[in-house]
Amino acid sequence: MPTMPSTPSTPSLHISTTLTDTPTSDERLAEIHADPGFGTHFTDHMLTVEWTPDAGWHDARVTPYAPLTLDPATAVLHYAQETFEGMKAYRHADGSVWTFRPEENGARMERSSHRLALPVLPAADFVQAVDALVTADERWVPGASEAGEKSLYVRPFMFASEAFLGVRPAQHVTFMVIASPAGSYFKGGVRPVTLWLTEEYTRAGRGGMGAAKTGGNYASSLVAQQEATAHGCDQVVFLDAQEGRYVEELGGMNLYFVHDDGRIVTPGLGTILEGITRASIIELAGKLGHQVEERPFSIDEWRDGVRSGRITEVFACGTAAVVTPVGELRWDGGSAPAPASTDLTMRIRQALVDVQHGRADDTFGWMHRVV
Ligand code: PLP
Ligand code: COI
Repeated sequence: MPTMPSTPSTPSLHISTTLTDTPTSDERLAEIHADPGFGTHFTDHMLTVEWTPDAGWHDARVTPYAPLTLDPATAVLHYAQETFEGMKAYRHADGSVWTFRPEENGARMERSSHRLALPVLPAADFVQAVDALVTADERWVPGASEAGEKSLYVRPFMFASEAFLGVRPAQHVTFMVIASPAGSYFKGGVRPVTLWLTEEYTRAGRGGMGAAKTGGNYASSLVAQQEATAHGCDQVVFLDAQEGRYVEELGGMNLYFVHDDGRIVTPGLGTILEGITRASIIELAGKLGHQVEERPFSIDEWRDGVRSGRITEVFACGTAAVVTPVGELRWDGGSAPAPASTDLTMRIRQALVDVQHGRADDTFGWMHRVV
């Protein structure tokens, strides 16, 4: 049966490794690294661990990347009992490979799994599993000298793999890790993104699963994202489900509002995803002399603040998008202009990517060495 999230422990997986006989050629890898896009090219290997109530987590293995064969009755295909994570591996100038706060991703997956009635994979085992795949596919981590901020995006995920149509927590669960070289999440690199405010759809309600990283939240965001695209916007903004008044987050990013007196506001936790970038920016902004308030932030405060100039910058943040300036906000029948500046946004962005890519001292102890 699913258990409560664990306290930190030492890794306990016994991972076997079978490397591919047909690794991607150096030439092909160079082509992919030159233009990785996001989430389109996958590495040579994958990691898998199985869970059953009797055996617990077992049969951990790194194997050549390959399609899965699933029974059509596999529970995740019907009831969406699954959780996932998103993180990156970075190459530093000396050739070493690092991940950013991986134990936080592991801890968040523990919480997500608990919410989805999935078994908890202890965070230490999660980190061990990610390390094993990144080590096997080390050559897929883009070089430090390559232009831009390329990295290897790592996607751990867990799903109900039991073939059974009864509605109850699955008795066979599979955890996997795959990875994909990543460039900029938004086409055109770092530029202010235009947002669509959906007034019809919400992402999460009280007691729901908004704080969990689970596929259903993303499935429910897609129709709103379609609406955004139809209105020429890059991303959709969700408001709270109860009053339709408070800003929550984007489909895949948290939001920050910079004020003319130096204060920064970000919506408080509850029904939003607890972003690891969000949490890190609270600490980084403090170091840059900016106080961050976590509190309910109304859509009127956004609209009025941008119009009056009291809000000088808005930015979005997340693993995939890093830190991205927000431009115009549009809704049915109106719009608010892009804030005047992106200066602090770009300074915070630079401070973060410099730590991640090993160009600045890791004073917070965030980086974890893999290779
Ligand atoms: N909010 C949502 C809905 C997300 O999908 C993500 C991305 O993971 C984030 C926020 C940012 O989280 P993190 O900074 O941990 O990547
Ligand atoms: C991430 O930033 O890692 C995300 O998961 C956002 C999106 C790609 C789903």
